[in-house]
Amino acid sequence: MLMLAGVGRRVWAQALSLRFRPLARPVMVPLDDLVTPWRARQFVADGVTLPSAATPNQPIRFTGMVVRTAAGDNQPETFTAVCVRCPHEGCDVEFVPDPASLPQDVKNEIGRPVAHAVYLCQCHNSTFKSEDGTRLSGPAPRGLYRFRVTSVKDAAVEIAEVEEDLLLFV
Ligand code: FES
Repeated sequence: MLMLAGVGRRVWAQALSLRFRPLARPVMVPLDDLVTPWRARQFVADGVTLPSAATPNQPIRFTGMVVRTAAGDNQPETFTAVCVRCPHEGCDVEFVPDPASLPQDVKNEIGRPVAHAVYLCQCHNSTFKSEDGTRLSGPAPRGLYRFRVTSVKDAAVEIAEVEEDLLLFV
């Protein structure tokens, strides 16, 4: 239990250290689509690149995945949302609900048991935790870019912010 609390604190601290910017408009995902933990629901989000980006102030569209990470409680912290664009070379990652089904060489590279679903990039086998998008293995230089679940209201999860770096390195 103490260990779980420690992991939760680390994940939360990492999320707090990221910088987020508002999306062009919030994305609303119906709670009915997010009843079961560790099932991903895809969404599309629109943003605008930062003034300091290589192509500044341009509309940009992202595909994301949102996952419920615990049963019951409908709080923003119960959901995580990431961009499917792999931070290595930009391939789309896929959601793997059962980590036991990963290819053996990928499991070997992770090197430890994984409790929950993972994201896998088939291009060069980077893997990421579904809990928060952090990198598990492979050549990706960082975890998946994050969206912020800002509230749960009107029977929907609201995703209204995106990690600033994603608006810079596109
Ligand atoms: S593009 Fe994803 S691991 Fe290379």
